[in-house]
Amino acid sequence: MPDCHSYVIKGSDKTVLIDTGLPGAAKAIEHGLSEINLRIRDIDLLVLTHEHLDHVGSAPVFFDTAMVAAHRLAAMKIQLQDEFAMMNQLFGLPADGFRIDICLEAGSVICLGNYNFHVIHSPGHSSGSICLYEPDQRLIFTGDTIFTGGNIGGVFGSGSISDYIESIKRLSMLKVDDYYAGHGPASSDPPFEFDMAIKRGLTMLEDSKALFEVVRSKGQFEHIRDYMKNLNN
Ligand SMILES: [Fe+2]
Repeated sequence: MPDCHSYVIKGSDKTVLIDTGLPGAAKAIEHGLSEINLRIRDIDLLVLTHEHLDHVGSAPVFFDTAMVAAHRLAAMKIQLQDEFAMMNQLFGLPADGFRIDICLEAGSVICLGNYNFHVIHSPGHSSGSICLYEPDQRLIFTGDTIFTGGNIGGVFGSGSISDYIESIKRLSMLKVDDYYAGHGPASSDPPFEFDMAIKRGLTMLEDSKALFEVVRSKGQFEHIRDYMKNLNN
């Protein structure tokens, strides 16, 4: 932390990198790649699991030699350098010079030759979050959608608690032996952990209801309503 994990998958035809970490993570990625006899230019495709800066920050390092892919909704935020959605303020870093070559959708398949990664759209943490599922290997890369222990990555900017719960319910229906998250260790018991994540999502939903009730009782919504009314005038 705060950098995310980057995962490299070397297929028989293509090599993919998942996520890059913050701006400045390139040296660490280069070092990691060298340990498996790869260089930056050996990456054919960079897949970004979502738009947060700690996952996309070093993407420009790959622009000369790799295609860059993200879910359609994340792609727009990254291309427009939407600093609210990318959470630049949290990391205290600017976002500029980004581009996306390929917009992914639910059901897109990334073929590496001997591996086929299916794009699972998993909104919740953000609207454009994806997971990458390899059904023959029964493994999935989850970005910030779920961490080991069934922890969920929080709801930010474009995210939604309800979407989160629905996304994890869909993940729980997949045949998965291992999942690899954007932060923290790999999971060893996905069914149990998916179940835990759904329960945590439902608890978060109840907590949010309590929070809104407190806000409402303090009359905060009236200020927001008046502000919106002035914007429309
Ligand atoms: Fe994130």
